[in-house]
Amino acid sequence: MGPLAQPTPTAGSTAIDRPAAPDTDRAPSASLEMTGITVAFGGVIALSEVSLVVEPGQVHGLIGPNGAGKTTLFNVACGIVRPTAGEMTWRGQPLRRLKPHQLAGLGIARTLQGVGLFPGMTVLENVMVGAHRHARAGFGSALLALPRSDRDERELRARALAALSDLGAEQHAGRYPGGLPYPVQKRVALARALVSAPDLLLLDEPASGLAEDEMHELGELIRTLSGRMSVLLVEHHMDLVMRVCDRITVLDSGRQIAAGTPAEVQADPAVTEAYLGDEVTAEEDAAGTTRTDGGRHHG
Ligand SMILES: Nc1ncnc2c1ncn2[C@@H]1O[C@H](COP(=O)(O)OP(=O)(O)OP(=O)(O)O)[C@@H](O)[C@H]1O
Ligand SMILES: [Mg+2]
Repeated sequence: MGPLAQPTPTAGSTAIDRPAAPDTDRAPSASLEMTGITVAFGGVIALSEVSLVVEPGQVHGLIGPNGAGKTTLFNVACGIVRPTAGEMTWRGQPLRRLKPHQLAGLGIARTLQGVGLFPGMTVLENVMVGAHRHARAGFGSALLALPRSDRDERELRARALAALSDLGAEQHAGRYPGGLPYPVQKRVALARALVSAPDLLLLDEPASGLAEDEMHELGELIRTLSGRMSVLLVEHHMDLVMRVCDRITVLDSGRQIAAGTPAEVQADPAVTEAYLGDEVTAEEDAAGTTRTDGGRHHG
C-alpha cells in the first residue's frame, strides 16, 4: 500500500469521516492519467489514441458531438470497458478492469447517463449502497449474509442522511425513487456517489433533464466539490461546461480534436467546425451556401 492508500478505520473509531472543519488530509492529491486509449467494438473504432489527465482538484470536461466516444472513454475510466490499447493510472498505479463494487474502494465514484437508482429500495437505502467503502463489516460479510453490526448500520445511515441533506433531498429519504421528480432523482444519484467521499467523481451528463435554475445549482455544487476531489464531467450543456471546467478535452469521431482551458477550446476553429456544426449550418444556410456533410446535433 502506498502513502496515498486510504486509511483503514481503527477499532473503536467512528467510520463517519465528516469533520466539522475542512481537513487537510482530504485535499485532492490524486490524478487520473489516460494515455493513448484506443477502443474498438468489432470493426468500429470508438476511440483512437485519446489521452487526458484529470488533475487533482480540477474539473475536467469531456465534450463532443453525438457518437464522439465520450461515454466510451467514461466507461474506460470506470473500468467497465477495457481499452484495446493504451494505459491508465490512478494515484500513480495502473488501473485495470474493475468490478463496479471495487470502484469505491479505490476512491472513485460515478453517476451514469440517466439516473440508475434501484426502484425497489428507498432513497435512503439507495444512498447507503454507495457508502460501502466506509462500512467496516464490508462486502465480504454482506456476501456471506453475516449480520452487519448495528453500529455499522447506524453509521452508514448517518452518512447517507448527511449526503442527502447536503443535496437538499433529506426529506425524501423514506420514499421510493420512482415517485420522485426527475431532478430530485438525479440529486439522489449524486448523493449516492458522494456518500463514499470519493477522490475522483465521474459524471456522465449530470445536467440532462434539468431546468435552467437546477443546472445553475448543479454548476455551483460541482465547483464546490472540486475543492475536495477531482471531477471528470461528460456534458452536452456548453454553458455549464464552460462555467465549471478547468480544462476540457474535445472528441469527434473517437479522436481528440482539441484540449485546453474553456477559453482556448471555445476559440479553436476545429471545435467550432465539429461540435458547433448546428450553428455553422445555420450561418451557412443564412448565407445561402450548401453543406454536403449532413447536419449534426448536440444534445
Ligand atoms: N457497446 C458498443 N458496441 C458497438 N459500438 C459501440 C458500443 N458503444 C459505443 N459504440 C459506438 O462507439 C461510438 C462512440 O459512442 P459513445 O456512446 O461513446 O459516444 P458519446 O460521445 O457518448 O455519444 P452521446 O453524445 O450520444 O452520448 C459510436 O459510434 C457508437 O455507436
Ligand atoms: Mg454518451
